[in-house]
Amino acid sequence: MKPNYVFILVCCILSISQATVATPAASNGFRVRAVNLGGWLVTEGWMKPSLFDAIPNRDLLDGSTVQFKSVTLGKYLSAEHGGGTILVANKIFAMSSETFRLWRINETTFNFRVHNNQFVGLDTTDGVNLVAVENTPCISETFMILRNSDDPNRVRIKASNGFFLQVKTEELVTADCNGNERWDDDDPSIFIMTTFSAFDGEYQITNGYGPVMAPKVMREHWDTFIVEEDFKWISNNGLNAVRIPLGWWIAYDPNPPKPFVGGSLKTLDNAFLWATKYGLKVLLELHAAPGSQTGFALSASRDGTTGWGIDSISPTVAVIEFLAARYAKNPSLYSIGLMNEPSLWISPETVMSYYKAGYDAVRRHSSTAYVVMATRMGALNVTEFLPFAAQLERAVLDVHLYNFDHWTVHDTINDVYTHCQEVVSAVTTSNGPLSFVAEWTGEWMVPNATKEEYQRFVKAQLEVFDRATFGWAYWTLKHVGNHWSLEWMINNGYINFTASNPISDHLRVSSI
Ligand SMILES: *[C@@H]1O[C@H](CO)[C@@H](O)[C@H](O)[C@H]1NC(C)=O
Ligand SMILES: *[C@@H]1O[C@H](CO)[C@@H](O)[C@H](O)[C@H]1NC(C)=O
Ligand SMILES: *[C@@H]1O[C@H](CO)[C@@H](O)[C@H](O)[C@H]1NC(C)=O
Ligand SMILES: *[C@@H]1O[C@H](CO)[C@@H](O)[C@H](O)[C@H]1NC(C)=O
Repeated sequence: MKPNYVFILVCCILSISQATVATPAASNGFRVRAVNLGGWLVTEGWMKPSLFDAIPNRDLLDGSTVQFKSVTLGKYLSAEHGGGTILVANKIFAMSSETFRLWRINETTFNFRVHNNQFVGLDTTDGVNLVAVENTPCISETFMILRNSDDPNRVRIKASNGFFLQVKTEELVTADCNGNERWDDDDPSIFIMTTFSAFDGEYQITNGYGPVMAPKVMREHWDTFIVEEDFKWISNNGLNAVRIPLGWWIAYDPNPPKPFVGGSLKTLDNAFLWATKYGLKVLLELHAAPGSQTGFALSASRDGTTGWGIDSISPTVAVIEFLAARYAKNPSLYSIGLMNEPSLWISPETVMSYYKAGYDAVRRHSSTAYVVMATRMGALNVTEFLPFAAQLERAVLDVHLYNFDHWTVHDTINDVYTHCQEVVSAVTTSNGPLSFVAEWTGEWMVPNATKEEYQRFVKAQLEVFDRATFGWAYWTLKHVGNHWSLEWMINNGYINFTASNPISDHLRVSSI
């Protein structure tokens, strides 16, 4: 969950269908007060950037975008019409047609995906001219980037025929240059490369480290980022559950499809052991569905494409079925979240048919686990799945409420009591599904806020989110950004769930 797309969610105008009063909690009164174990079993680089430090050519990961400016012409390499035909080198400014998304083969070798989604390659008729016509990259669509050791943004690009790209004219780009040892400004095979590395998810880290290093790096991360002591600490600090984001590849452990790495299932097994030992409930949730349901790195998208669709329903249900079968009998399993933040590109009907099939998969193994269904990210109507979920026993509607569209304390806190309050009310009904604020945080946009101001912000949110009948979960336990990190917030006295707090007292005394 990054501020830039959180923004989309919180900016939209909501259509609230009803203003219901806060209603009874789950039939036994229990509500979850959970913390997300984000960035653990599904990588989100912004939470722990150092994880990526040792990747060679770290700025050239899958989904990073690059632009190439010819040193002789002073113009950018461009996919004519955004793709589907030849490459040219005639643009003074770099825009979408001059921007290429990388698919990384290894640290030096890449495919270049153009705006219209084709891959740059050699023209099959002559094997020399550059085109962007293939929808699937093969050998001809594979290029090596050679960087100048003194200036890593000065590059040559070697094609699969063994020759280097050169710009002959603004309309003619070919792969027929022998290359040489020099890096002079009159050499038509030299380009100035600009890189934009926006992507830092599980696909990027595993493919970036490659098949030898990635298993070591990931297992080290799983073993150290969150440990048994953390579960004890969570339990001792007034929380009663953990929400664990998962990637679809966990169902194929220990041999998931490349580039994903096996071993996270054992870590999840450990999480259940520790949760049981320290009396915490486990809320599983599928954060990264096959193909990526958000198009963001956090759902393991390779290059920004939202590949999840109607054809992904059955492989995704298989993942849910796997999780339900494995953990249904575990006393700590409390709920399974079917899919995190589905994109608005996916129709509500497709999401609902998946939710129905995923719900049935859980029910084949458990009659008691709650089944959590997330609202589409940025949906104008936050109750779009409410009538549907109302037909299902022990269903839960999940909304994420971040507050990043104001810059002052007053406006942000005001938004909590208006916007957030309206959303929570809308999804909280007396005879519908339970409501769950599965992600919220103490971070905001207010610059240089004081500790007291942060405390007021958190208190306001708790006041509102405590009305959600299933409960809430803070994003997240550990994070390099202090206010995103619940561990830091508690250890530094910004939040204390064990101190006397009239707002939340009723929650603490309830038992499961
Ligand atoms: C990268 O892949 C290319 C093409 O398969 C290969 O020729 C090259 O040796 C590889 N480089 C490294 C560093 O593995
Ligand atoms: C939101 O969606 C639900 C379910 O389709 C529908 O019942 C409700 O009328 C919608 N609300 C608005 C304001 O469109
Ligand atoms: C916040 O603090 C920094 C560092 O002390 C300062 O440079 C900056 O101007 C401050 N910003 C505002 C909006 O007060
Ligand atoms: C939270 O408050 C309780 C009761 O006032 C206190 O004992 C505890 O030390 C506090 N926790 C932290 C981390 O400050």
